[in-house]
Amino acid sequence: MGYMLDDLVAKFRPYTDHGRVAGYIPELLKANPQDLGIAIYDRHGHIHTSGAVQSKFTLQSVSKPFALALALMDHGPEGVFSRIGMEPTGDSFNSLMKLETFSSLKPVNPLVNAGAIATTALIKGSCAEEKFSRLINFIRSLAPSCYVGFNADVYRSESLTGDRNRAIAYFLRDIRAIDGEAEECLDLYFRQCSIEVDCVTLAALGLSLSVLPPEFCVIPPLYARIIRTFMFTCGMYDASGEFAIKVGIPAKSGVSGAIMGVVPNKLGLGVYGPALDIKGNSVAGVALLQALCSREDWAIL
Ligand code: DON
Repeated sequence: MGYMLDDLVAKFRPYTDHGRVAGYIPELLKANPQDLGIAIYDRHGHIHTSGAVQSKFTLQSVSKPFALALALMDHGPEGVFSRIGMEPTGDSFNSLMKLETFSSLKPVNPLVNAGAIATTALIKGSCAEEKFSRLINFIRSLAPSCYVGFNADVYRSESLTGDRNRAIAYFLRDIRAIDGEAEECLDLYFRQCSIEVDCVTLAALGLSLSVLPPEFCVIPPLYARIIRTFMFTCGMYDASGEFAIKVGIPAKSGVSGAIMGVVPNKLGLGVYGPALDIKGNSVAGVALLQALCSREDWAIL
């Protein structure tokens, strides 16, 4: 497996030239655009790595499935999905409305920013600090003995520049999709996006969402299935359909260049490549995953 991963990383690293590091959070521009790394964490605890596996990066949107897991554990599916939808677009089959238009008084799903901010607002805790420590400790419990830190520079950078998310949070507050203060909820959302990991952590987190023997399940199996389903249908944003067809596994990307993948019953995948394509997904990371999943016949459908 090791040699094969080395070959794949060498083959797909040149693809990083076709992408760009995200700049709308200025601190992310410090990433090396040529980085490409992968880790595989299987259910027997074997780890295989290749490439830029020493690089550290923030979870960004990859944090969303874990905020969702905690919200589901705090409120159950009915509590969560009374506030947030379950559909990739939320529009009817013949709708003419723009995808961005809210068609109901709740965000369409927990993985777009609006739904993720509303999901974060559901995390229980007596104060902001307690809510954040519940989330980061929960993530640590899913990836024991892996690196899980916090990047205060990325947090400050997004907090200073995140006006679009600010607009979303105030809108959500206006339609009563979130309780509590918009700023407090945003602050927790920016913090969760700034949790720092490496490829091995990401792969361990992917494995935690796999189908596992009951004694290894931190996330209840039904909730893990709900989350894998969202990852499969919405995890790669407006490239989710193409990714599902070409790669075929539940995955979640982040603007840092992270992609977390799940091969149910088998393993978790952590890929890092900060040069992004036009839709915000790691350009070399997607190509690498496509080749690997096709070679290993990992597509779930
Ligand atoms: O809210 C944002 O814009 C970022 N903190 C996270 C976005 C993100 O990772 C989207 N991913 N593809």
